Amino acid sequence: MPSPTTGHRVAVLGTGSMGTAIAKALIEAGHHVTVWNRSRERLEGLAGCRVAQTAGDACLDADVAFTCFSNFAATHDVLEQQDVVDALRGKVLVAMSTATPDQVHDLQRFAEASGIDYLDAKIAVTPAQIGAPTAVIFFAGPQAIFSRIEPVLKALAGRATLMGERIDGAVQGDFAFLSVYFAGTIGILHGAAFSRSSGLDIDQFFSLIPCFLDEINARSQSFRKMILAGDYSDVQSALKTDLAGARLLADATVHAGMQRLFPDALIDLMQDAVAQGHGDLDSAAMVEAFGKKSRTAAWRSAV
Ligand SMILES: NC(=O)c1ccc[n+]([C@@H]2O[C@H](COP(=O)([O-])OP(=O)(O)OC[C@H]3O[C@@H](n4cnc5c(N)ncnc54)[C@H](OP(=O)(O)O)[C@@H]3O)[C@@H](O)[C@H]2O)c1
Repeated sequence: MPSPTTGHRVAVLGTGSMGTAIAKALIEAGHHVTVWNRSRERLEGLAGCRVAQTAGDACLDADVAFTCFSNFAATHDVLEQQDVVDALRGKVLVAMSTATPDQVHDLQRFAEASGIDYLDAKIAVTPAQIGAPTAVIFFAGPQAIFSRIEPVLKALAGRATLMGERIDGAVQGDFAFLSVYFAGTIGILHGAAFSRSSGLDIDQFFSLIPCFLDEINARSQSFRKMILAGDYSDVQSALKTDLAGARLLADATVHAGMQRLFPDALIDLMQDAVAQGHGDLDSAAMVEAFGKKSRTAAWRSAV
């Protein structure tokens, strides 16, 4: 924990679920935290920090300001107030709300015009995981600014990761994460529904999830090797074998009395990659099919 004399002076604007977790982690790490929130009741659970009356006041004595509003429209509403612009000039702004690439480019233009150093941040964990050594937050912006405030950022996420100086790097990292997160969590929920519909012990299913994740992790390391080499010929599991497995899963899902939307989505994706000629290769070759516009994708977007 930094001593009170080495801690940074930090403002947290927006103390909803995520902003509160961020403020608490920064206080816990020994930084001098000032918080501001539009509605006062969201500030009640916070101790060990100064509560400012206005966003501008919160930024006055801070070196770094974190914004964590619902979206970027709210972020602009607050940041474009003249007293906030004046208080932040020459300081670091870390904008943490979820956003599109266009929105972070807009904010970058605003920050440059206002003389504010902008780091973008996108959070890949829920509030309960903020501060954990394994928590991932993606950052984008100048390396020099990231390095200067890295101890503050590490208090929020052990894996505070700079995705490069391009301001949309954190947004893109977040979308890559969401591909994994949505597919993984929906797969777990489908497995839970299947276990329940088949009369299996659902608790036993959940107790085995860490082992399944270990297997996925091992498989991802072999994907990494093959994708970096651009060579999918060292087959551990051929794509056509996985496709046959997905078809069996679809049959079993129907047999268990469930709808087959989930396995059908898997079959669709694999069939598309097989149609592109990757069936005999390791299923890592799907990365090539995803990267191409296929006839299936064109048909879907036209509907
Ligand atoms: N929660 C998560 O698990 C999670 C994970 C990753 C990323 N995120 C992202 O983090 C951001 C915050 O999420 P959250 O879960 O903390 O949401 P939340 O609990 O709903 O909090 C939203 C915050 O935004 C403020 N706000 C909204 N509109 C405003 C405006 N026009 N002016 C001033 N303040 C405004 C709210 O103030 P009031 O209290 O006054 O309404 C509140 O402080 C979102 O962009 C979200 O996508 C969240």
